[in-house]
Amino acid sequence: MRVVIAIDGPAGAGKSTIARSLAARLGYTYIDSGAMYRAIALWALRLEVDLQDAIKLEQLARSAKISLLMDRSVQLNGEDVTSEIRTPEVTAAASKVAAVKSVRSALVEKQREIAETASVVMEGRDIGTVVFPQARVKIFLDADPQERVRRRSVELPEVAAAQLAAQMSERDTRDRERAESPLVQAPDAVYLDSTGLAPLEVEEKILQLVRARVSNGKELH
Ligand code: DC
Repeated sequence: MRVVIAIDGPAGAGKSTIARSLAARLGYTYIDSGAMYRAIALWALRLEVDLQDAIKLEQLARSAKISLLMDRSVQLNGEDVTSEIRTPEVTAAASKVAAVKSVRSALVEKQREIAETASVVMEGRDIGTVVFPQARVKIFLDADPQERVRRRSVELPEVAAAQLAAQMSERDTRDRERAESPLVQAPDAVYLDSTGLAPLEVEEKILQLVRARVSNGKELH
């Protein structure tokens, strides 16, 4: 029986660090669903596709071969795009592409396929609400906005903090207010605020939930 652990929340809440480490501890596959939206955004930018052209974007999303590899690298159609999908330009475009319904349905299909063959820790914005409403464990990971900007500043020291704050706020608003699968806490998700907590402390809290919900630990690998 495959187990799904869904971790949703805004940028900078600590999802990636925690989801990756949790997956390693449990022997599950870590899936960064945001990387998939980023890969489509990169492809669209390269081909100069209008980011509101739902038909063309859906074609890209359906035909893209996206591989999320164990060493954390991301491949698009066989090409390593790990660093390119993290540029500010792709980051902004990913949030726009992610608002397009047809793109979302194509990528949700791919996300569900992955979980057919492995137990996963999947992070994103709609994992507990849309992709896996039946996920065994659902976490909504949050942190206060200043802390989220501070964390991103450490990852992107070349971008001025004020600029980063403005960009994050714009993306968060778009991700929360879009019509299609907006970022929202699932009613049965556990809300965790990581402000002021070390990643290990957050991870421990989630592990306690996993132990309680995955019966007798038997399904843990
Ligand atoms: O988590 P991230 O910053 O890498 O995500 C990139 C963009 O994709 C972000 O604007 C939110 C969006 N996204 C989404 O809408 N649904 C997901 N499951 C994952 C990411």
